[in-house]
Amino acid sequence: MAELDKTQREVGVPGDWTYATAPESRDIVHIADRYGFFVGGEWLEPTETYETIAPRDEEPLAAVGQATPEDVGRAVAAAREAYADGWSSLPGSERAKYLFRIARLLQERSREFAVLESLNGGKPIKESRDVDLPLAAAHFFYYAGWADKLEYAFANRRPRAVGVAGQIIPWNFPLLMLAWKIAPALACGNTVVLKPAETTPLTALLFCDVLRQAELPPGVVNIITGDGRTGAAIVESEDVDKIAFTGSTEVGKEIQRRLAGSSKRLTLELGGKAANVVFDDAALDQAVEGIVNGIYFNQGHVCCAGSRLFVQESIYEPLVAKLERRLTTLRVGDPLDKNTDVGAINSAAQLEKIHELVASGKEEGAEIYQPPCVLPEKGYWFAPTVFTNVAQSYRIAQEEIFGPVLSVLTFRTPEEALEKANNTPYGLSAGVWTEKGSRILWMAQRLRAGVVWANTYNRFDPASPFGGYKESGFGREGGKHGLEPYLRFEE
Ligand code: NAI
Ligand code: MG
Repeated sequence: MAELDKTQREVGVPGDWTYATAPESRDIVHIADRYGFFVGGEWLEPTETYETIAPRDEEPLAAVGQATPEDVGRAVAAAREAYADGWSSLPGSERAKYLFRIARLLQERSREFAVLESLNGGKPIKESRDVDLPLAAAHFFYYAGWADKLEYAFANRRPRAVGVAGQIIPWNFPLLMLAWKIAPALACGNTVVLKPAETTPLTALLFCDVLRQAELPPGVVNIITGDGRTGAAIVESEDVDKIAFTGSTEVGKEIQRRLAGSSKRLTLELGGKAANVVFDDAALDQAVEGIVNGIYFNQGHVCCAGSRLFVQESIYEPLVAKLERRLTTLRVGDPLDKNTDVGAINSAAQLEKIHELVASGKEEGAEIYQPPCVLPEKGYWFAPTVFTNVAQSYRIAQEEIFGPVLSVLTFRTPEEALEKANNTPYGLSAGVWTEKGSRILWMAQRLRAGVVWANTYNRFDPASPFGGYKESGFGREGGKHGLEPYLRFEE
């Protein structure tokens, strides 16, 4: 019996705390029946549409346009016109005003955006409310601050806008990824054609209303929707100067092949298989919280998720026991319930991928643990999962699962931890848990990962650059580094 259970029994504390439902109201957000493309400040009618749904129960939410190459052409032409016709020559201090307005409007309308994000994407409302929305607004505030300081940030290098940026984003942080892409692009004087992921278009479409309220000149930001075909048309568009992509490594490689030999600039933020390394001197209860936050946050649909847990052998048993016990307290269910910890899986396709990899883990010989939890009947759901007895060669230790599934491995020495942690084609992020500052620094210098968290995990700040090594991509978003992909220098 765990220490806590024993104490509870002795003092007569009830062991079972059931939560009443605490649903956030979905009526706060208005969803139209049908959406077109936001091009040149106006709505264009799509020729073809598809249905976007709520992954929690498969409820149809709206008909959304599937943009054709012709639609993409119109959006790019609108962006080019806006670029040439004023935006690129506007003083930075003027551009900043629009970015500040957008940030303020996002804050004012954050509840509405959070509800829509959870409804269309499946993530718990407490995450969209407390993470996605504040961070999205913070990104606009942060880059608004740089817009009139580019000459200072890059002294004597004469920074200039690149031109029209084509931006393709994924479904795991729809509005936040939009902010990561649009804020630095506009701060640097570029104009934008952005495509949200096909399963989560609604917050990007609502964002067009924020652009209207902010009175952003028409054509500076154009939002078109559709699947990978639309994305490919953006990549191939002749008049786009820069592509920024966040998504799968597979598509990232394809885009890189397409653009090889062209003058188009490219940044890629792709997959990950991050190591979260726990040493025997770490504060175990805090580490357990960090592990849980590292892999079950946003159902594990996180490129920097701590999906490979490395535990020093001497603390393996107590740590796994504490972790499994903590898993029994995670509340899986309605994304719009304020008590929910783990929401719905984003799509049927992603759920299938998780099932497939979990089946491979069992087949290859790993031991599976899932806490008892009742999953809703409709919609896409997967229980929080821990695999122990995992060998480095297993697919669940090598491939990105992008779901609430953790693989636990062990090590004896720091050198061994490092070697195993770096034994991956990816390199986006890593975590280190130890009380020793010198060990944190030793590990951080040697981990081949863009971000290394120490005694915490999944912390984000607009001032801090984010991006990968190896197959996790190239280029940085956030911070001063995040300006560079959107600038050319007339040195
Ligand atoms: P994906 O890479 O196909 O989709 C991401 C975005 O790229 C979407 O907007 C999509 O419409 C677009 N896209 C798809 N094919 C394209 C093409 N040929 N040219 C241009 N754009 C294209 O990712 P998907 O299929 O949704 O997820 C598959 C796996 O990728 C996930 O299971 C996960 O492992 C990984 N992934 C990683 C993400 C990250 O943040 N690094 C985000 C999303 C997925
Ligand atoms: Mg795909």
